[in-house]
Amino acid sequence: MSIELPEEGATIALAERIATALPDERGGWTILLEGELGAGKSTLARALIRALGHAGAVPSPTYTLVEPYDLPGGTIYHVDLYRVSDAEELRYLGWNELDHGLRLVEWPDRAPELAERADLRIRLAYAGDGRAASLEPLSERGAGLAERLRSQSLD
Ligand SMILES: Nc1ncnc2c1ncn2[C@@H]1O[C@H](COP(=O)(O)OP(=O)(O)OP(=O)(O)O)[C@@H](O)[C@H]1O
Ligand SMILES: [Mg+2]
Repeated sequence: MSIELPEEGATIALAERIATALPDERGGWTILLEGELGAGKSTLARALIRALGHAGAVPSPTYTLVEPYDLPGGTIYHVDLYRVSDAEELRYLGWNELDHGLRLVEWPDRAPELAERADLRIRLAYAGDGRAASLEPLSERGAGLAERLRSQSLD
């Protein structure tokens, strides 16, 4: 599924649509956010975290690796693997202990095997002055989410 994002507002609107399409029980979900520097990964992550109920700032997890948000619908873990060089480091990060929450992962390509356990891959790319997103379900429930997103656009 491909979506044109001509300006930043469109990236934010996509995040809001994804928030609506997520189930109430989002514990254990993993969403991968790929794209080169400046592609809009953090813009989308920030908007998703806010759409799911967080009102304050959303600092970059580049140095902390993980920023947790305790929200009514469950914890969101905003993860940035930019500085991680192999999957081994995920263990130090306590990756498996984050599995009761929704893991939203920037630079997941640093640990390619994550894709096997993820639900949705969102790839952001430059497209003229704007961006384009491609969404790829990686699990059955991820496919359900993509289906709900598709039917939203027909509303
Ligand atoms: N759809 C869009 N069209 C045009 N500009 C956008 C769009 N989405 C985000 N931007 C802008 O792109 C810039 C970079 O966005 P952002 O920081 O989210 O990227 P990133 O992928 O997280 O980058 P990095 O890998 O460097 O952290 C920001 O100035 C943001 O406003
Ligand atoms: Mg970023």
